Amino acid sequence: MGILFSQEHKVFQITTQNTEYCIGIADDRYIGHIYYGKRLDDLRCGYLMRTKEPPFVPSANRRDKGPFMDVFPFEYPTWGVGDYRESCLKVRTDKGACGCELHYVDHRITEGKPKLPGLPATFEGPGAGKGQTLEIFCRDSVIGLKVVLRYSVFADSDALIRSVSLENESQSPLHIEKVLSACLDMDGEGMERLTLNGSWCRERRMERSPIAHGKQAVSSLRGESSHQEHPFLAVMEPGANQDQGQVYAMNFVYSGNFLAQTEKSQFDSLRVVMGIHPEGFEWVLDPGESFTAPEVVCVYSDQGLGRMSLIFHDLYRNHLIRSPYLHQKRPVLINNWEATYFDFDSDKLLAIAREAKKSGIEMLVMDDGWFGRRNNDNCSLGDWTVNEEKLKGGLKALVDQVRAEGLLFGIWFEPEMISPDSDLYRSHPDWAIKLPGREATLSRNQYVLDLSRPEVVDYAYESVAAILRSADISYVKWDMNRQLSDMGSSYLDGARQGELFHRYVLGVYQLQERLLEEFPKLLLENCSGGGARFDPGMLYYSPQIWCSDDMDPIERLAIQEGTALIYPLSTMGAHVCDCPNHTTGRTTPFTTRAHVAMAGTFGYELDITKISQSDRDKIPGQISQYHKYQPLVREGDYYRIASWRENHQYDCWQVVSKDKGEALVTYVQVLSQPNYRSRKICLKGLDPDRDYRLEIEDTQEFKERAKAKEFDGICRLTQPDGQVYSGRLLMQGGFLIQRLHEDFSSVLLHFIGQ
Ligand code: DGJ
Repeated sequence: MGILFSQEHKVFQITTQNTEYCIGIADDRYIGHIYYGKRLDDLRCGYLMRTKEPPFVPSANRRDKGPFMDVFPFEYPTWGVGDYRESCLKVRTDKGACGCELHYVDHRITEGKPKLPGLPATFEGPGAGKGQTLEIFCRDSVIGLKVVLRYSVFADSDALIRSVSLENESQSPLHIEKVLSACLDMDGEGMERLTLNGSWCRERRMERSPIAHGKQAVSSLRGESSHQEHPFLAVMEPGANQDQGQVYAMNFVYSGNFLAQTEKSQFDSLRVVMGIHPEGFEWVLDPGESFTAPEVVCVYSDQGLGRMSLIFHDLYRNHLIRSPYLHQKRPVLINNWEATYFDFDSDKLLAIAREAKKSGIEMLVMDDGWFGRRNNDNCSLGDWTVNEEKLKGGLKALVDQVRAEGLLFGIWFEPEMISPDSDLYRSHPDWAIKLPGREATLSRNQYVLDLSRPEVVDYAYESVAAILRSADISYVKWDMNRQLSDMGSSYLDGARQGELFHRYVLGVYQLQERLLEEFPKLLLENCSGGGARFDPGMLYYSPQIWCSDDMDPIERLAIQEGTALIYPLSTMGAHVCDCPNHTTGRTTPFTTRAHVAMAGTFGYELDITKISQSDRDKIPGQISQYHKYQPLVREGDYYRIASWRENHQYDCWQVVSKDKGEALVTYVQVLSQPNYRSRKICLKGLDPDRDYRLEIEDTQEFKERAKAKEFDGICRLTQPDGQVYSGRLLMQGGFLIQRLHEDFSSVLLHFIGQ
């Protein structure tokens, strides 16, 4: 790993163990992109910018500066001076002149990785994770704008981290209409794109499509990263799959509006950009002030999506998630949301806690409905006082009783919101985001607090902190149940209304930073109406995020596959639900629900006092499986073996410990197919020269069910427990899974290195 500058070739070479990123200073001091891919280790690569062929740089061919601007592979393209492709930077002067052109001034290579003011950012890890950073300083001297292009790498990662800062060196304000964080220009013929798309209860489904001429974007203008589209974009070779082919991916470390776009030009070249969405954005940069745009993580893999996922997972575990829980077992929780919704009181919660304790559950989480007059979702957001009609004797009394039962206690908040029917709104109607003279759009009957206003941030913080100070609370679920609209702030002046979207996100970050400073031992789980704010920005504050309100294990296959494409399994909030499932109406085996939830942080979201005795009897066994496997799931390497999304029949993934000493395979048969052979799955990531002994989980249950003639469970066991295979045989020959005689059934296979 290292960053080099060759004065002779005017080339910056940024290398990781397996990749290289090259930037050139072309004639006329234009900064161009040269190369990203497998290592070249050859600094004579500047010719790839094609400046020695027509239309040439402007000093050689002034009359054709326009065509040059429109074809040169700019490292950071600007708007208004002849490059008609998507720009990253658009600046207007106080006099209304809109155009910007950047030229190289200087650079600096430093050890380490700087923090970004007010923003989540990757950081140097302990030990092997040392970092290095290149800053390229460039300037538009006509408008007095300095731009810093920043690139960091870490010794133990193949990722490249980019960010951009602006500084106003002029005497008057500059209006930043657009500041994206990264651009990647490449030849890119025939590439395809991969995005994550969805909706509430259908988050982050993978979608692959051809790249056409013109612009194709995924974006959010909802004020959060959103259920609908995701701040991730990969371009890949058409044949690329899990194991092979080139993939270039970008992921935005930000939780608000974003734009991620491909653009195929008239010459079939490809420009990929990512950053804060320019629509609804304008930042007034006063003289002497700076603005830093959030960072983008770039990953190149020449071994398909599987390698890309491993790079993201390790980067986020080693360089982004700060929580002390990152490498710790998370308590098995039971959440009362789908058990009771708003209809609960201390007695109900305590009954759940007592029964949960008997089964080995470790924490009770009290969800929405404990404050103000919140007996439904129409009121009280902002009034964070305990409802003592529900919690008799107050919150502390309940927490103490739950603690006395031997469980930890967790609580739900939605601090960014305000209900029109709340004391807070009645006394501070101006604290809600809304446009003057216009009734703000309601969503779930609530408005959004104006977090650009410092006293609102203070109020929201104190509301949460006062509750946490009042009782022994170990965990907070931080929810956000509507998206932003009617973007008006009575706090910001007219010229700064375009700052509100970004200032809102900065307010959220500030709130969570303060929370972690005061309560460093708190386990924080972010959530947004399910998984609408599952992004690297939030992972900087919380080690886990609620993946989706859809807990149906079959729906979860696609949701968790898309999420695990980028994020480590240890970050995915996943619970066992009751059946029929509340969002799909589907009934699935209790064991399958547990197997799928075990790929995440694991917990239960059902009324344990009401489920069937036979389901309840399975919980202790499931929890001991969780305890057994969670270090592996949390720390191991994730491999996708098969996807139900693609084959319409079954899903299969695997986690292998870093030392290749053990592996856990989860196989889910979605629909049972009659009269069919066994299915062969090829394992991945094992040591080919090592033997592995098979251990099949839940065999007792299969035998019992087969005996009771519930299903022909015995067919799962034709490859017996204790069988030994070489890693090579399992990876190249494969393992045979017998047909499971039931829809939606699953099996956990543990391979233990000998
Ligand atoms: C949305 C969350 O995703 C749910 O789990 C639950 O907490 C509700 N909000 C409560 O309003």
